[in-house]
Amino acid sequence: NWTMDDFIKLSVDSIREEVGDANVILGISGGVDSSVTATLLHKAIGSQLTAIFVDHGLLRKNESEEVMAALKEGLGVNIVRVDAKERFMSKLAGVTDPEKKRKIIGNEFVQVFNDEAKKIKDAKFLAQGTLYTDVIESGTDTAHTIKSHHNVGGLPKDMQFKLIEPLRQLFKDEVRVLGEKLGLPHDLVWRQPFPGPGLAIRVIGEITEEKLRIVRDADAILREEIKNAGLQESIWQYFVALPGMRSVGVMGDGRTYDYAVCIRAVTSIDGMTADFAQIPWDVLQKISVRIVNEVKQVNRVLYDVTSKPPATIEYE
Ligand code: XMP
Repeated sequence: NWTMDDFIKLSVDSIREEVGDANVILGISGGVDSSVTATLLHKAIGSQLTAIFVDHGLLRKNESEEVMAALKEGLGVNIVRVDAKERFMSKLAGVTDPEKKRKIIGNEFVQVFNDEAKKIKDAKFLAQGTLYTDVIESGTDTAHTIKSHHNVGGLPKDMQFKLIEPLRQLFKDEVRVLGEKLGLPHDLVWRQPFPGPGLAIRVIGEITEEKLRIVRDADAILREEIKNAGLQESIWQYFVALPGMRSVGVMGDGRTYDYAVCIRAVTSIDGMTADFAQIPWDVLQKISVRIVNEVKQVNRVLYDVTSKPPATIEYE
């Protein structure tokens, strides 16, 4: 009977055997998958791993700090954090097409990562937190690509690294069990999945500092209230997206013309299909009131009641 302990032992042994005394690098983008991959590799090869945390400025509120605290301070994983916000923002300026945005972010991620990777001696291996679902949805196994997930493919043709993908056969729930077994904090491991391109695919159309601020602040309120209601582990993903439309509202004696934000919350087993989550009305009401009161330039909150298919979980 196959257990997670067996998986850890087998993975650690095979990583050690494959890597020998070479060095391994790994890109971290803030999500659970790369954090668990880093922790597994750290257990196997310790300081032979250098994790490069490309902070693209598209993470949620406090996310960068939390990842560093858990992995570097908490577990002693060797992480270099690169603040690449300016690079990403300038490349993304004026771009509205979803796939173009994804490609730019994927390419830029690889470039920032490569610039850092060059500084690491004897790095022969590149590790990635690819899951079974990423493999399927990116079209590696099927002819049809739904969205170009940036953590699969997109690496330069002349890439001189050998690939290590220790989570390639696992589903998300298994990755979480693995993360806890490896000593990552419960809150980090059971955090909802977060896409590599980050908030960029939740701000529809052009990304601006202002729109990022709105999504980030509204999302932080949503997360806080979902946690207060004890729903954080029963909903697969819950976040705020910004459709970019503005509408008329009224505040005090005045007319407003401000943004609407959209609450997206879904239940799912593996992200491949999903149903919209039925958040209790009183919780939604609290979230809505707080968002319009606390986030400047938002005067309306919408609730997405579409399942996947036909919609996807993310907006772009
Ligand atoms: P969609 O929007 O395709 O998302 O229904 C399915 C699941 O995948 C996540 N997602 C991504 N994860 N890189 C990732 O690591 C990506 O580019 C990416 N795009 C979507 C999404 O959050 C959901 O859990």
